[in-house]
Amino acid sequence: MRSLVRETHLRPGGLIYPLFLVPGEGIRRPIATMPGCFNLSVDEALKDATECAALGLGGLLLFGLPAEKDEAASGAWNGDGIVQTGLRALRAERGLSRLVMIADVCLCEYTSHGHCGVVTRGGEGISADYEIDNDASLKLLVKTAVSLASAGADVVAPSDMMDGRVAAIRSALDAGGHQQTPILSYAAKVASAFYGPFRAAADSAPQFGDRRSYQMDGANLREAMREIDQDVAEGADMILMKPAMPYLDVVRAARERFDLPIGAYQVSGEYSMLSAAFERGWLERDQTILESLISLRRAGADFVVTYFAKHAARLIG
Ligand code: PBG
Repeated sequence: MRSLVRETHLRPGGLIYPLFLVPGEGIRRPIATMPGCFNLSVDEALKDATECAALGLGGLLLFGLPAEKDEAASGAWNGDGIVQTGLRALRAERGLSRLVMIADVCLCEYTSHGHCGVVTRGGEGISADYEIDNDASLKLLVKTAVSLASAGADVVAPSDMMDGRVAAIRSALDAGGHQQTPILSYAAKVASAFYGPFRAAADSAPQFGDRRSYQMDGANLREAMREIDQDVAEGADMILMKPAMPYLDVVRAARERFDLPIGAYQVSGEYSMLSAAFERGWLERDQTILESLISLRRAGADFVVTYFAKHAARLIG
């Protein structure tokens, strides 16, 4: 009877699994801060993608660690970049065609300084000795998005939090013949300590300063709604809320205010703190994972990005 009257459901098709691609072959390098997650070369990533397809997952979210980093983040927008190469390989496999391939659009994994945008020295702020040049960053983000769409991304997902990037990416995609490629915008992304484990996974920690000049203050709900309003006005097709569990009220508020599809990203810190408790036997793995995911669906998320996607899909079949 409990099952009959259940209000909220989880299904594999509503889960998205992130992959961290690295150059090379035969590489399956464990990520120390995220037990059970790996940096994968493209050939190894194909194996994981095949497993995800067999489990009926909704899609993959692709991140890349380039061979080299520089100030212009060339690894992000180069046609031979690691994610572009991965996308072409994934696209070539017929068996993977039901997985939605979502490409993260950001510069932090590709810049030598680890910031999500272009850094200019000697900023004018009271205490700043550097600034992020918003509009110069847009040019690189646009190039990145078009390059990823050309390589076969079904969806591009800007996570940089520069102002105006959704409009800039939309018009460049349209001009480049990618009118059909939707934008999943990380619209209200908080400057969060919960991304810590990811930065080890993606080797993307800022070398100086922090991300507070472009990522949001987690204390602000109204500002989060304004950020989403702006991205919707600029042409976002879907929005992604992150982190997830510490921000359930923000997901709920967004659900009530916006009709477009909403995803929640259960980020690395959420994954790692749960995984640590599982390892110690302090929390029971299966039920805790399912409860953490159903809470996001109940809060209003249509789909969930989670490092537990494969495990959860096995549990819910
Ligand atoms: C890139 C990006 C980050 C995450 C997703 N895209 C890191 C950051 O903003 O520092 C975090 C994902 C996670 O923690 O799982 N900007």
